[in-house]
Amino acid sequence: MIDIHCHVLPGIDDGPTTKVEALALARACVADGITHVVATPHVFPGRFDNHRAGIAQLCMKFRQVLVAENIDLELSFAGEVRLSHEVIDMVQRGEIPFLGEVDGWRTMLLELPDAQIPLGSINLVRHLAGIGIRPVLVHPERNKAIMDKPERVEAFVDEGCYLQITAASLVGQFGPRVSVAADFMLKKDWVNAVASDAHNLVGRPPRMTEARHILEQRFGKGYAEELTYFGPARLCGREREKLAVPS
Ligand SMILES: [Fe+2]
Repeated sequence: MIDIHCHVLPGIDDGPTTKVEALALARACVADGITHVVATPHVFPGRFDNHRAGIAQLCMKFRQVLVAENIDLELSFAGEVRLSHEVIDMVQRGEIPFLGEVDGWRTMLLELPDAQIPLGSINLVRHLAGIGIRPVLVHPERNKAIMDKPERVEAFVDEGCYLQITAASLVGQFGPRVSVAADFMLKKDWVNAVASDAHNLVGRPPRMTEARHILEQRFGKGYAEELTYFGPARLCGREREKLAVPS
């Protein structure tokens, strides 16, 4: 499986604090059936002041650590960008760590706040589209306004946003309202990827295999494969024809 949203890099956000913890999470990813993980530290001005160059450097260093430890896990990077007016300036300054490119559009993980959909969110998405960027909205099912009315996501889908649901939401870790919202989006066929959003081994481990089994049981093997492998690969900018069929 390809995991496009994981806080696996050490000491950069609310993921692992130390290299040892980060290695433990990387091993847990492998054990969970993940072959390629995209390290996506928070990019949240004023809270986690991360940007492309710093994340790239840490990713390179951690990749060497994985090799030294014989951990067979492909590692790339992007960032979980918090929705704010600062995003536009960051794009212009080249500070956004993009996920990849799809059909000429750059893709970027975009996170809403927990409680509401801020006024102007759709305008920001439109502005991004105007400069060739398509957001991947991360875990919309965990946003309270969307939990109240999951159809609120449609406005983002209509503007070309991709959607990423979190594995633990399908498993039920965040409660029934989150699962119901995730289910609504799956049934509408709005979802492009399921990702771990793992932060650690205790409260936020990967859980991709469990989520994949649930998808298989409810929607069939093909759909489960699409959301855990081909869809994520596409959002990273990989062509389907060049991908191996997952085991
Ligand atoms: Fe995250």
